[in-house]
Amino acid sequence: MAPVLRALPKADLHLHLDGALRPQTYVELARALPSGDGLTLEEAERAITVGPGVRSLAEFLTRFPVINRVTQTEAALRRITREALEDAHRSGVRYAELRAAPWLHTEGGLTLEQVVEAILQGIQEAGRQWPILARLILVVMRGRPEEENRQVVELAARYRDHGVAGVDLAGDETAYPPELYVPIFRRARDAGLAVTIHAGEAAGPEAVWVAVRELGAWRIGHGTRAVEDPALLDHLREHRIWIESCLTSNLQTGAVRRLQDHPFGRFLAEGVPVTLNSDDPGVSRIELAGEWSLAAGVFELDFDRLARLALNGVEAAFVPETTRAMLR
Ligand code: ADE
Ligand code: ZN
Repeated sequence: MAPVLRALPKADLHLHLDGALRPQTYVELARALPSGDGLTLEEAERAITVGPGVRSLAEFLTRFPVINRVTQTEAALRRITREALEDAHRSGVRYAELRAAPWLHTEGGLTLEQVVEAILQGIQEAGRQWPILARLILVVMRGRPEEENRQVVELAARYRDHGVAGVDLAGDETAYPPELYVPIFRRARDAGLAVTIHAGEAAGPEAVWVAVRELGAWRIGHGTRAVEDPALLDHLREHRIWIESCLTSNLQTGAVRRLQDHPFGRFLAEGVPVTLNSDDPGVSRIELAGEWSLAAGVFELDFDRLARLALNGVEAAFVPETTRAMLR
């Protein structure tokens, strides 16, 4: 990889904390479980990452309950946050929006507040070691009880401007369409929270329309199938709604069949607001700098395009304008 690509200052706006877990860390944290799991690194890799054969969102998502067996203490959350940001820093990331679904970390007895505080502490600790700034996006999970999801939005509202940048909707889009979440995201908007929605990854462009029009998304996670609807592309351009593209993840979830078919190149060439992100670097066995290298090769991007793309990450960040000016 060209060193300049690694060094190029970047933002990673779509980065799941649990999906960033290093297999070696999983091995170490699993040893402390009551079941005392003694795993080899190879066994951990098989358990929490996806191999080259995986091509479906449902299968991709099966790794997360396994990962989250070891993310149930404050110490574990602080550690995986620091490590996720250390890895991001190594890819040239200066600003990251980490996202986490707080309920997934309460099975060992932590409260929602303890989960958020531990992650925010991990962000602070990382910022003392590496030149990286990060904020947190709290994830509303498809398929979880409505009352839990409401509590996530209230939690995000309490921590707004104290490290939490906004809210997201993640999980299996085929089983849980965005219409189900209209009232919850109305509350999020009323509370002044920024909204990003996983949409158009497995479902079609109609899901992106609902995310934008009814859930008030300012950014769309993946949105690969938006490319099927020219009127939607016009809408995204006109309203400056950003697509968070994640190339390797989209291959592994079956959102695209081949990278050459990925709409990222078209989004970029046709002026659809787009950013390049990692999604789940641990699960996918990638690093963000590698995704930039991949994008540069597959879509034949010259340096000027790549620099523009890096700036897109800053323009799309959920930050106050003064911070944005600093990041530029
Ligand atoms: N959670 C983690 N990665 C995801 C993805 N690609 N789609 C939906 N939910 C996710
Ligand atoms: Zn995601």
